[in-house]
Amino acid sequence: MHILHVVGARPNFMKAAPTFCALARTKNEQTLVHTGQHYDASMSDVFFQQLALPSPDVNLEVGSGTHAWQTAEIMRRFEPVVLERKPDLVLVYGDVNSTVAAALVCSKLRVPLGHVEAGLRSFDRSMPEEINRLITDQLAEFLFTPSNDADRNLKREGINRERIYRVGNVMIDSLVRLLPVALQNKMNGLPDRYGLVTLHRPSNVDDYRILRNIVESLIAVNSELEIIFPVHPRTRSRIAELRMKTPAQLHLLEPLPYIEFLALQRRAVVVITDSGGIQEETTYLNVPCLTLRQNTERPITVSLGTNVLVGQDGGRLRAELRKILDGKKKVATIPPLWDGHAGERIAEILSKSCG
Ligand code: UD1
Repeated sequence: MHILHVVGARPNFMKAAPTFCALARTKNEQTLVHTGQHYDASMSDVFFQQLALPSPDVNLEVGSGTHAWQTAEIMRRFEPVVLERKPDLVLVYGDVNSTVAAALVCSKLRVPLGHVEAGLRSFDRSMPEEINRLITDQLAEFLFTPSNDADRNLKREGINRERIYRVGNVMIDSLVRLLPVALQNKMNGLPDRYGLVTLHRPSNVDDYRILRNIVESLIAVNSELEIIFPVHPRTRSRIAELRMKTPAQLHLLEPLPYIEFLALQRRAVVVITDSGGIQEETTYLNVPCLTLRQNTERPITVSLGTNVLVGQDGGRLRAELRKILDGKKKVATIPPLWDGHAGERIAEILSKSCG
């Protein structure tokens, strides 16, 4: 069987690598397509190297644009690739614009589709990712889910249970594989105790009032705990537009490679983020996570894991941080099947079903 994988943005790469590597050990032929949604070396190339993903067979080089433009342009450039390469199955990952664009192309061309990380729902349709998830799941023949809440969401939306496969969390596969390497990283020059921050959601960074409020809270937090903040390109330009003076102990860095970021997460006193995947990684690592969002499509990280939703409220952030600094950490467990073998389960299911 010929399986074509589509990746495009930073969080796709650590989800695709375990599945790609597991399928590489089977008789299946594989093609890797990069849409070029993320194109900076620090957002893309370095992840391929560290995750041991081969260079993409095809790069659509789509780049940045509005949602409609980016999605349409990926579709326009991806369609001839599918027609030429004739895959038996296409695998898409997560919830980015590349995911939904490839899903639409495949369903129109009647090429079977598998969605890795299916079923997650924030129930917040103002998030572009929620729209991408809803549509991709409706179009997929194989829905690979990380948790039982995802299975429930899909069944409620009328998806036939025979198409749902709970395989666990592929992102955790990459973490399990590379954590030993990350722990060898000496991280010279860093403070002993620090909080790690990431921020890139349009809902947090595109509204200046909200962004200013968050940055001011971080500066306040910073008086108790040094902050390390690798900054997404979109956030960097917004912060520059705010012209805020940030104290020197608020370390603003370029986006970091996967292994370095993992090492930083593992040793952080707390992670403050609006990312999806980082909520999961901190739960696995048993590091407290304060999520700067009102909702999460990953509720299991709140019910079982270390995650606490603090919204965009600086007061709540400071109160939850106080608890952590006072040693009152949440007691957390790792969700079932987040064990480093999800990619292997996907490879086995596909080999049995289509092989
Ligand atoms: C995308 C995903 C988001 C994911 C995030 C991880 C969608 C809808 N969103 O958001 O779910 O959490 O990736 O990073 O797909 N840019 C660069 N260099 C790059 C890529 C982007 O400078 O390599 C800048 C550009 O100014 C661009 C902006 O970042 O306009 C946003 O990039 P885009 O791909 O549209 O979405 P992200 O915010 O990265």
